[in-house]
Amino acid sequence: MYKQLQQRGMESPPVNISTLREMKQNHEPIACITAYDACFSQLVDEAGADVVLVGDSLGMVIQGHDTTVPVTVDDIIYHTSCVARGLRRPFLIADMPFMSYTVPEQALENAVHLMQAGGAMMVKLEGGKGQVAVVEYLAMHDIPVCAHLGLTPQSVHKIGGFKVQGRDESVAEKMLEDARDLENAGADIVLLECVPNEVGRKITEAIQAPVIGIGAGPDVDGQILVLYDVLGLTPGQTPRFVKNFMTGQDSAQAAVSEYVQAVKDRSYPAEEHCFS
Ligand code: KIV
Repeated sequence: MYKQLQQRGMESPPVNISTLREMKQNHEPIACITAYDACFSQLVDEAGADVVLVGDSLGMVIQGHDTTVPVTVDDIIYHTSCVARGLRRPFLIADMPFMSYTVPEQALENAVHLMQAGGAMMVKLEGGKGQVAVVEYLAMHDIPVCAHLGLTPQSVHKIGGFKVQGRDESVAEKMLEDARDLENAGADIVLLECVPNEVGRKITEAIQAPVIGIGAGPDVDGQILVLYDVLGLTPGQTPRFVKNFMTGQDSAQAAVSEYVQAVKDRSYPAEEHCFS
């Protein structure tokens, strides 16, 4: 029975939370990417991604909304179940959408749906110290948690736009404290979005949990990008940290492989993708 979970007849065993912790310890970059359907999840798996996130970014790239706020738990369950069917090796994380984790009991109920009906192996939620009670409650029930700090898009209307976070020293210090508190509460991974390199580095050094960055500089344990950004499909102006990996490639498969390779050899992110 246990053998099945570890091998499923594959060349390399599925990635799990221990694999990710070992990668951090061994300074081996973790390549993460989003996916929203079975076809692309198979493609990113074959390209060598270690972690796949069904992000609530689907509200923007799939559903055409301006923010992630309208996304529901049912939307995430549907897309996670599609992605899960295409995946073999990567670790699968699903986003908990806006207002689906306001109190611990509600968070647990929704996380259970994402895992049972969606097939997620971990849930991701946004916010700092205010989420400690929720993270503790989920961890107490053995639900793996990724805590998302820095720019938290579900709070876009409160923040007043999609802006770099932690340029101010006191805000950066608070973010570091939040990361420590969330790790102590049981968070297994921290995701940092849109923060200066220095903040990414300090948080990565301060905690044991792997830190995955998006616009958080080169000194984190892994990188994540939205699949459609990697493929250059996002219209209009993209954030500074985005790199179109389709340039010079003749297939989506080659572009995603190039992204994974660039994360692994640390050529991505380059200086032009970072906030200093
Ligand atoms: O929703 C999402 O895709 C995310 C990534 C941008 C990290 O949270």
